[in-house]
Amino acid sequence: MDPFDERPLGAKVAGALEAGPLSGQVLAEHFGVSRQAVWKAVQSLRTEGVDLRSESGGYALYGGGFGALSLSWRCNRPVIFKAETGSTNRDLFQMAMDGAEAGTLVVAERQVAGKGRLGRSWVSEEGKNLSFSLLLQPSLPPEQAPLLCLAAALAIHEVTGLGIKWPNDILAPAAPGQEGFGPKVAGILAELHAEVGHLHFVVLGVGLNVHAQDFPEEILATSLSEAVPEKTWDRGALLGELVDRIESRCYQLQSDPAGVLRAWRAGSVTLGRRVRVGAHTGLAVDLREDGALVLETASGRVPVLAGDVEMVTQR
Ligand code: BTN
Repeated sequence: MDPFDERPLGAKVAGALEAGPLSGQVLAEHFGVSRQAVWKAVQSLRTEGVDLRSESGGYALYGGGFGALSLSWRCNRPVIFKAETGSTNRDLFQMAMDGAEAGTLVVAERQVAGKGRLGRSWVSEEGKNLSFSLLLQPSLPPEQAPLLCLAAALAIHEVTGLGIKWPNDILAPAAPGQEGFGPKVAGILAELHAEVGHLHFVVLGVGLNVHAQDFPEEILATSLSEAVPEKTWDRGALLGELVDRIESRCYQLQSDPAGVLRAWRAGSVTLGRRVRVGAHTGLAVDLREDGALVLETASGRVPVLAGDVEMVTQR
């Protein structure tokens, strides 16, 4: 038993059952609690939708579930789970100002004021997707903060297999016979608290369409289960993998930014295409060390630091 494991009992019980079935008695002894407490934890996990069966060898875990306990199990930390909130980014930013620790994770089933990049809003179908914010405190100068978005996009690419559109949109493949990018599956919004020369913290928010089918008409979007139908996507398991991968790629920036950028380039669907970003049109030829997209334009190479990429069809 890990004395520093602050997760609720239900999360620890689910973690212990990953290796195979265990009886209530064994679990109670292992965690130093009563069998009644174990039974209650099992019931709470079932209420969250975890498939936990009573079999001859004891409680057997078959996955599933989406709630505070099951996500604390999947993400290896106490998760702040909200059935409804305004914005997980806004919630976590306030918590960070109040002293929350790096690694704090807020997950919502429904956001009524979800925030997107560049002042847009983010709308997500309730109970179908992932909307979460993760607190990061890397030792990086503030000017390298944009690299955190690239690192997080790389992590999502690695877990889902989908392409990255600069700087950090995750896209489905284009339909057969079509050029360019497919619809958007996930987006990232990083909000910083910094002063000149010092980054205090970053709230990294991710919205990922997992099973959603209804999208506002004006939005070109799809879901992971439509983009990658050959896999079964369990939202809780997916969240656990994403959080682990995002932290690992973001903190890698402290020691090996070049390694992160190299992997980003390999996962990019922007490089090698003719694109328009704001006033600039050209061939996207590289990603610069500071995260800028380098365009080969009619008037030479232009680095672009922010904006939306549009595909330009070659004539
Ligand atoms: C984008 O515009 O592509 C970024 C979308 C980011 C949405 C996520 S959902 C969880 C977190 N909380 C928010 O209010 N926004 C981010």
